[in-house]
Amino acid sequence: MRLLIVSNRLPLNGVQQDGKLIFEQSAGGLVSGLSAYLDLLKSTSAQDIEYVWIGWPGITVPDKMQSEVKSVLVDLHASPVFLSEKAMDKFYLGFCNKIIWPLFHYFPTYTVYDKEYWLQYQDVNKIFRDAVLEVIQPGDVIWVHDYHLMLLPSLLREKLPDTPIGFFLHIPFPSYELYRLLPPVWGREILRGLLGANLIGFHTPEYAQYFLRSVLRILGYEHKLGQILSQDHAVKVDTFPMGIDYQRYHSTPTSSEFGEDMQDLEQLLDGFKAILSVDRLDYSKGISNRLQGYKLFLENNPQWREQVVLLMIVVPSRVGVAHYQQMKRQIDELVGEINGRFGTFYWTPIIYQYKFLPLDSLLAMYRQSDVALITPLRDGMNLIAKEYVAARTDQTGVLILSEMAGAAKELGEALIINPNNLETIAEALQQALAMPETEQKKRNQVMQQRLKRYDVVRWSGDFIQELLQVQKGQSQALPLSRHKQTLYTAFHRADRHLLLLDYDGTLVPFTDNPDQAKPDRELLDLLKELTNTNTDVVIISGRDRATLETWLGFLNITLVAEHGAWLKRRGEQWRLSKPLVNSWKRQLLPMLEIYADRLPGSFIEEKEFSLAWHFRQANPELSAACARELMDGLVAFTSNVDIHILQGNKVIEVRNSEVTKGSTGLSLALTQDYDFILAIGDDTTDEDLFAILALEHSWPGGLAPKTFTIRVGTDKSQASYFLPDYREVRKMLQELAARKDIINEGIGVNA
Ligand code: UDP
Ligand code: G6P
Repeated sequence: MRLLIVSNRLPLNGVQQDGKLIFEQSAGGLVSGLSAYLDLLKSTSAQDIEYVWIGWPGITVPDKMQSEVKSVLVDLHASPVFLSEKAMDKFYLGFCNKIIWPLFHYFPTYTVYDKEYWLQYQDVNKIFRDAVLEVIQPGDVIWVHDYHLMLLPSLLREKLPDTPIGFFLHIPFPSYELYRLLPPVWGREILRGLLGANLIGFHTPEYAQYFLRSVLRILGYEHKLGQILSQDHAVKVDTFPMGIDYQRYHSTPTSSEFGEDMQDLEQLLDGFKAILSVDRLDYSKGISNRLQGYKLFLENNPQWREQVVLLMIVVPSRVGVAHYQQMKRQIDELVGEINGRFGTFYWTPIIYQYKFLPLDSLLAMYRQSDVALITPLRDGMNLIAKEYVAARTDQTGVLILSEMAGAAKELGEALIINPNNLETIAEALQQALAMPETEQKKRNQVMQQRLKRYDVVRWSGDFIQELLQVQKGQSQALPLSRHKQTLYTAFHRADRHLLLLDYDGTLVPFTDNPDQAKPDRELLDLLKELTNTNTDVVIISGRDRATLETWLGFLNITLVAEHGAWLKRRGEQWRLSKPLVNSWKRQLLPMLEIYADRLPGSFIEEKEFSLAWHFRQANPELSAACARELMDGLVAFTSNVDIHILQGNKVIEVRNSEVTKGSTGLSLALTQDYDFILAIGDDTTDEDLFAILALEHSWPGGLAPKTFTIRVGTDKSQASYFLPDYREVRKMLQELAARKDIINEGIGVNA
């Protein structure tokens, strides 16, 4: 298998040095986490995964140097996407870091909703699409990362309908109230863009829930256990908390640099207790709060003065964005103020470095620090917290962690603080510095076990495995759009056609109230036209017979009501398909009524041989819980009676199990010598029909006529094809009736 990793930034950052372009490691959790995983892949021969990383090389490369850069990077499994300075300005600094980053980190006042940024975001996502298309090979799996490329999954899906595409968001997904601040078109397009993937991963269950909620509120798509039905495929939304390469931090490097760093630090600390703080320079990291908390700690605890130092590493980041520049000034000032106020000839309270540290130097910091103080105001995950715990080989050390970091969900044994409460930061520092070693070890041991178990290989392995499963588990049905010709040809070659058509959701859209789904002129004309093509049309529905009679009784077609219980053949009267009882209704009705009363907007439809509880108009979240409860109750209550309970589209229906759409549909199919049968439906009840038509022994002598089954939507189905919605069903039937393809394609006709 070959994995195409696509992210805005490559793990290598181009920098100009003495007129030459050289590549250094780039910063950030996305790069460090994924690189660790890929390094492990390279080192374990058991893994049969190749990869290419597609992304921006961190610098604008002049045209004449691009092919050279490409060939240098190809050996490093990297495929560069070249972007102009202007594009990066509006796309990266603009849309990504002045809109999405602040908004998704709950800094709505930092956002600048500039339309130019949005236009550039769309363009750059297309550039990434083309870059992927340039390298893609059959069998590749695509994994897109982070907020820079949220339109990419759909752009790729249009071109690569069958390729597994995964997406992982490394930052928080905000609550709906924040997400809706995006101009509506952008907000919609981003959600649609993401839904092009087969699997969308988040660090925590909350981010996944917030995303699902925005999808529901903005696009109107519901989910079933995290699965959403998008236009032509199913999308799974799930949680994968990113892990670290545990062994890398837990073992001791042999490099001389590591040894030197350890020694230097030992000398520097010289008996002081060390508190460590490491972050990219970012307003989301709560660096000022941390400094204020430290200041308060020194104020409140004079006994700790000259006993402790704060080692503060700040990694330069996004220097082109004004809020980052302001942040830098603010930090410099605060450090100056604290050092000035408390510092002495022998003691500097804060040792501050503004630079990126290579892994071994960082590891030495982790090893030499008694406390790690991590106080983001909002952070998708925060790998530093995990790395610090993993690095403590003797299991001492105390982690103080903000509850606003995704990592807090997994590191509950840390001292969890709210970064907006400076007192708790100061108190946590005091508690950490005084914590007995046995207590430190007890806490770290549990966290280490967890980090070791769910490491970065497990994280990515789980993601990719689930991606492949989701894709495989999709309906086996093929998209009819790509196989229409086969259907048309069979239709026109046959003499006698039978169409078995479900009504709601198949020929008409769902409406808030079932009474509103009356057939329109276009549909009536279509059904009439179809009967002119030597075709028997059957509407096979769960509706009651009175409604079908009023809406469609005047047409020259056959009607089947209540999922097969009632039948009215063309030109005949209604009759029962077989004798049925309905005495059970009296007993079950009160149970359904309780739910109709409890859930505003829901109501009961009583038919002769079935009862249906509809909840299309009810609050989606409340109705999901009620529906589950009612299903449980009904199943328990009816276990020894001959009735069937089914959950359809926003409806729970109870009916006799002796007749189904399958049994009635098949009996109709067998009454004539049809040589073409087409069944279309959108619901669980239609599956009986699809299944029975596909069985060889349903047909005399096992000789089935040419049969096509189509499911509307992309739920898992026994049908052989699917169509996205009722509009496409109508379009296809219109084309059959008009014999359009024959005229266009010049196929011989014998119908
Ligand atoms: N890091 C590094 N050198 C540094 C500072 C940080 O290599 O000087 C790495 C660190 O090991 C971690 C990543 O950068 O893996 C930071 O990830 P995190 O999730 O904590 O924050 P992000 O920068 O992604 O917001
Ligand atoms: C966070 C983001 C990454 C990003 C990193 C560094 O970790 O999730 O996508 O690469 O910060 O930011 P930068 O803007 O330098 O790429």
